[in-house]
Amino acid sequence: MKQHKWRFILPGLVIFVVGVTFPLWYSAVNSTPVPVLSLDTPVINQLQNKECVEDKAFMSADHMKMLHAWRDEVVREGKREYTAKDGRKFEKSLTRTCLSCHSNKEQFCDRCHNYAGAKPTCYDCHIIPEEVKK
Ligand code: HEC
Ligand code: HEC
Ligand code: HEC
Repeated sequence: MKQHKWRFILPGLVIFVVGVTFPLWYSAVNSTPVPVLSLDTPVINQLQNKECVEDKAFMSADHMKMLHAWRDEVVREGKREYTAKDGRKFEKSLTRTCLSCHSNKEQFCDRCHNYAGAKPTCYDCHIIPEEVKK
């Protein structure tokens, strides 16, 4: 009777252990390098302080929310000016703000999105500045 039980428990246990450790060995075997994000653009090179609109941690985690909020505020309320936490002012614009500094969209936005499997559809409508398209 005891042996009979283990016939069911053991395979379950194996599946569980493999499943739980999956991220560990999967990334070891299938090591896609974390993308190198280039900040080498004309506008960023001119900056005195190499800063984004908000701090890097905030931008990494929340830039999508920020862009969605900007869009809603512009389209619904006509509010086009964003004041950063440190008082700097920016136009709430995907093309004229984000992509003016990050004009190397392919080496920056796209690299990270491809890595993360994110596929923003914004560019169906929004223009990618000329120097980026090539
Ligand atoms: C179906 C077309 C369409 C798509 C797709 C779209 N937008 Fe827009 N978006 C517009 C239009 C039209 C405006 C209004 C333009 C204006 O008033 O300056 C706008 C305005 C904006 C603005 C403020 C103005 C500016 O210059 O950027 C932001 C920010 C924005 N959208 C972000 C996004 C983001 C982020 C995405 C993807 C998640 C996106 N949009 C997808 C059509 C679109
Ligand atoms: C004034 C130029 C400038 C503007 C405008 C700007 N960025 Fe940045 N961005 C930078 C710089 C410089 C960094 C690197 C910051 C650092 O290393 O501390 C950066 C970093 C980032 C990061 C973090 C990258 C990482 O390594 O984790 C993201 C995401 C980002 N920007 C997205 C955006 C988006 C989206 C917008 C528009 C809402 C935007 N940026 C507007 C200059 C800019
Ligand atoms: C450090 C990595 C990283 C960088 C750099 C980055 N993104 Fe993202 N972005 C992400 C991730 C991850 C998601 C998906 C988040 C989710 O699905 O919750 C995302 C999602 C988005 C979305 C929301 C997509 C949607 O369909 O609603 C927009 C818009 C966006 N990013 C714009 C940008 C722009 C513009 C830049 C360059 C200026 C940029 N991102 C740079 C990681 C990054």
